[in-house]
Amino acid sequence: MAFPDTRLRRLRRTAALRGLVRETDLSPRHLLTPLFVAATGAPIGLMPGVSRLSISEAVAECGELAALGIPGVVLFGIPDEKDAEGSGAWDDEGIVQLATRAIKDAHPDLLVVTDVCLCEYTSHGHCGVLASDGSVDNDASLELLARTAVSHARAGADVIAPSDMMDGRVGAIRAELDDGGFNELPILAYAAKFASAFYGPFREAADSAPAFGDRRSYQLDGANRREALREVELDIAEGADIVMIKPALAYLDVIAAVRASTLLPVAAYNVSGEYAMVKAAAAAGAFEERAVVLETLTAIRRAGADIIITYHAKDAAKWLAQ
Ligand code: PBG
Repeated sequence: MAFPDTRLRRLRRTAALRGLVRETDLSPRHLLTPLFVAATGAPIGLMPGVSRLSISEAVAECGELAALGIPGVVLFGIPDEKDAEGSGAWDDEGIVQLATRAIKDAHPDLLVVTDVCLCEYTSHGHCGVLASDGSVDNDASLELLARTAVSHARAGADVIAPSDMMDGRVGAIRAELDDGGFNELPILAYAAKFASAFYGPFREAADSAPAFGDRRSYQLDGANRREALREVELDIAEGADIVMIKPALAYLDVIAAVRASTLLPVAAYNVSGEYAMVKAAAAAGAFEERAVVLETLTAIRRAGADIIITYHAKDAAKWLAQ
């Protein structure tokens, strides 16, 4: 049946009808917010509304997030000192470990997801250790990443999220967690993480820009969807519990393809550059921030993400409650 018998406008007539047939829902329970923790707090110029937080500020922020119905945070640490190996990453008294303990003490029900990577801790800013020729040494990095994950687990992390993109790191982390008695701790793998220019503001926030070269020898080429599916497949085979695609907006087709290829929960990371674009355009008067944020997050959910990591989480939770 076609027009005039069929009229799609019939179900768009009132808000109640539109609500009845809405296919995708967005609620604070789907959202995780990244938090940057450092010895001292400071605003992040490129990301209005986001700051580096001291541990006590982070604990207070977590109270507000929990009250808004946000289930958890993703922690990134900015250490005072960096070295070639990134040893601050697995220091039991390191910034993420201390923050995790403090947050779990104060808000035991809030999920603390910890980002496992070396780039914030290495003096050269790469996500693994360097071989003598200056390339990133995959296999030598695995042990350090696994050590970092166990240290996060000991501090009380609820979910371990490796973002380094070394081959084999999910398996290495799973084995080390199991050896350490943490076989119930899930791994949220940054499975399809692309070498993206959208990470620019994050690198200011986390002070993690590579000192030389770029991340193209370990992060995915933005042109490759099939290879992204292979990354996802391998992470699942190595024991990932949740698979993530990152960034989100320029990769919605990858989110949809991953959703179709696996029964695992799928996460998407609405990254710093995506946030900065919305904030800058809204500040310039190009559009209403609230409407664009909710439309964007709904689109990421519609593409197939169960979970969205987003710097808009707190604002979105407030808007969704109104
Ligand atoms: C660390 C890491 C990065 C992001 C999350 N974890 C930066 C990078 O790979 O350069 C980016 C997050 C964002 O842009 O919001 N490896």
